[in-house]
Amino acid sequence: MKPRNLLRFAALLGLLITTQAAFASDTDGAPSLAQTYAPYFPVGAAITPGQVMMGNGGDFIARQFSVVVAENAMKPQSLNKFGPGRYEFEAADALVDFAGKHGIKVRGHALVWHQQAADWMFYGSGPNGDATREELTERLRTYIHDVVGHFKGRVWAWDVVNEAFVPDENVAQEGGWRKSHWYRILGPDYIALAFQFAHEADPEALLFYNDYGTESPRKRTLILSLIRDLQKRGVPIHGIGHQSHYTIAQPADFGGLETTIEDVGALGLTNQITELDISLNANLMKDAISEVTPALLKLQAARYRDFFEMCLRQQKVVSAVLMWGLNDDVSWLRTWPFARMDAPLLFDGALKPKPAFWAVIEAAKAQAAAK
Ligand code: GLA
Repeated sequence: MKPRNLLRFAALLGLLITTQAAFASDTDGAPSLAQTYAPYFPVGAAITPGQVMMGNGGDFIARQFSVVVAENAMKPQSLNKFGPGRYEFEAADALVDFAGKHGIKVRGHALVWHQQAADWMFYGSGPNGDATREELTERLRTYIHDVVGHFKGRVWAWDVVNEAFVPDENVAQEGGWRKSHWYRILGPDYIALAFQFAHEADPEALLFYNDYGTESPRKRTLILSLIRDLQKRGVPIHGIGHQSHYTIAQPADFGGLETTIEDVGALGLTNQITELDISLNANLMKDAISEVTPALLKLQAARYRDFFEMCLRQQKVVSAVLMWGLNDDVSWLRTWPFARMDAPLLFDGALKPKPAFWAVIEAAKAQAAAK
């Protein structure tokens, strides 16, 4: 072997050994989230195809979770980056097949979003090289029919549209709509079209609108009026996904989210918590803790407990809770919005349960005892 290749081989071996070691420590003796929450709702996390294939990561996932979502592998950029009809389903299939084999539900994420899109869809024979309305509608139809059709019967719930509204009250935008390429070319109708196409492709799948900041009164109003509008037009929508990227300080409590969840429930829809994490950086955009201290972990555990208690109170209209990432070491918050320390999830990098894990288990035990 050439020295360079030898080095590469050694690095790969090192990576595999580290990953194996990390997975091998597992949560020996810890209870299963999936089992503990079975009487209430499925609990899970965003995972990658690699995690189900490497070491005994798959065993850990199968033991702890009853629902999973692909962190990136089912976004248009992953499935259909290279142009019309050129799909790459292998990685996503590995994840979905794994889930099926273990009786784990799958959330499909996300058919329509302004980020990680299949950008070729937006170019065409319209003004300035944009796709025309007809071109983009046809591509949306084809993409959704092909992808939802491919996973038909294997995906429980789809995030059909992600983040269609802008978050900031001060941004003057027509009706709160985000001016994505979808909106620019198709207007707000792209949402109804996407839901219709998804329903045509898999009439059994639950169809969700997913967003962040859903605790804010403004997002709540926008979402409720979107639901009413779709319902009036007979467009199928079954639930709202609440991303719930929170911190130890923000929002101050989960009352705003609970109100949105109740209001959504009153319109006959279900709610799922789709991307929960509770950052140790109080201000997600600015802060950078230097160290994970026991005091921070305690605070985080209390926040997780409050959060799950709220979900348990609303269990009639909450049908899943998913964390955004398998463990602290792979959390997106380690690199976004900049590289820094964070530990926002229930398991550390060695998959050892943190105080937050035990707080979540305690919340379910208290619920069971109160019956
Ligand atoms: C949003 C998206 C997710 C993911 C996170 C950050 O919340 O919905 O798919 O990209 O951002 O990683």
